[in-house]
Amino acid sequence: MARSQWGTRAGFILAAVGSAVGLGNIWRFPYVAYENGGGAFFIPYLFALLTAGIPILIMEFTLGHRFRGSAPLTFFRFEGKKAEWLGWWQILVSFVISTYYAVIIAWSMRYTLFSFNLGWGEDTQAFLFGDFLQLAETPGEVGGIVWGVFIPLVLVWIISLGILLAGVQKGIELANRIFIPTLVVIFLIIVIRAVTLPGAGAGLTAFFEPNFEEIMNPTVWVAAYGHIFFSLSIAFAIMITYSSYLPKKSDITNNAFITGFANSSFELLAGIGVFAALGYMAVQSGVDVSEVATAGVGLAFVVFPQIINEFPGLNGLFGALFFLSLTLAGLTSLISITETYVAGFSEKFGTSRRKAVAIAGGLAAVISILFSTNGGLYFLDVTDYFINQFGIALIGLIEVVLVAWAFRKLSDLQGHANLVSDIRLGNWWKICLSVVTPIVLGYMMFGLFTENLLQQFDTETGNYEGYTNSFIFWSGWLVAIGALVLGIIFSLGKWHRDHAEFTEE
Ligand code: ALA
Repeated sequence: MARSQWGTRAGFILAAVGSAVGLGNIWRFPYVAYENGGGAFFIPYLFALLTAGIPILIMEFTLGHRFRGSAPLTFFRFEGKKAEWLGWWQILVSFVISTYYAVIIAWSMRYTLFSFNLGWGEDTQAFLFGDFLQLAETPGEVGGIVWGVFIPLVLVWIISLGILLAGVQKGIELANRIFIPTLVVIFLIIVIRAVTLPGAGAGLTAFFEPNFEEIMNPTVWVAAYGHIFFSLSIAFAIMITYSSYLPKKSDITNNAFITGFANSSFELLAGIGVFAALGYMAVQSGVDVSEVATAGVGLAFVVFPQIINEFPGLNGLFGALFFLSLTLAGLTSLISITETYVAGFSEKFGTSRRKAVAIAGGLAAVISILFSTNGGLYFLDVTDYFINQFGIALIGLIEVVLVAWAFRKLSDLQGHANLVSDIRLGNWWKICLSVVTPIVLGYMMFGLFTENLLQQFDTETGNYEGYTNSFIFWSGWLVAIGALVLGIIFSLGKWHRDHAEFTEE
């Protein structure tokens, strides 16, 4: 059977940008940048983007385009069994991410509706954790299903799996063609409105003001790399899978630059919009911006509703647009994350797309129900933390070291990319991947695993302060290590006969 393909170059770029632009850009980036040195964060950020993010994106596009398979099949065709496990590891990490990512989209969807009548009331924090999430008292306690989360979650899966069922061109490409332009328009409206609010300047100053002392701190670099990997959807099988649907005659390098810069532009725009709104809020309440800026869940679902409450006119509409943009950005990313294991499953076992969506996608949907229970947020928090800290960046490091040093295939891939691309890849690309990224990322990972890790174990002072319940703490580790072990096990099995043979043309 012929492999599915993107209909147009724009279709592929929109899908890749749709994958990259996600919850990470809107709710993770503004705060990560602010917390890690503000304006000074742009130095490690740009360094990570230019020396690791875009070079790895080019490498993944080249691998997918050349070997035309899901991540494990691509790695198998590239270097046999000794590379295949890496594809499965990436897919399993994606699988785990999709299970909680879908839940955050479900919250956003529900909050879009709450916006119209400011259904979260005055105390937005009590509303989120109490009325809406009905959060359990102790971490690790599961409790029952919270229907207010479960119902939109079902809807999120119906939409995503429905789009995946419709295929690459009629499903993924079409959805991105509609969702991404809509998202850009909505987001521009939000940002323009936000920067014209009184007090916006104070927020922007807080966001951009550089704290140069911070950039000497290794954790700031870890944050920059971790963020770039998550935000660009690299090292978790996505971009390999998406580029495997490129027609033979397709550009690689230029497409990667366009994707990378579009993603960063959107991210910057999100930072400006979010901090302008925070500045407004701070000035209204007569406090410093640092007092209103909080991380992740709190920022989008506690502080934003507060801002919307105080918004001068049409606040319901502004709120709905904000949460709708979060929903759209999330959906296009969730689709790409889920496609990685739909493709891998279907190729390994030789099943139809329909069956793969039902079985692999269905399993993810069922598991995600755990995050819609009373204890859901605790599980979500721990899983997100471990997968991001010890999953993606580590896999990215292993990926570049294997390709550059163990397989010594960079020149080969460079030749392939140059054959089809508008922009020629120079030696800078090889130097970034074989020297700069392994040294910087390796040094950081070493630090993370030694110093920081010991601190993580300290339940008094570590990040998981308060999470003294060892079950939930260890479940984070179980997921992170389990993905690797299961990946190795998956790679031991044979490929379905349709995919076992591959001849490069
Ligand atoms: N790249 C996606 C995001 O930023 C996963 O959320």
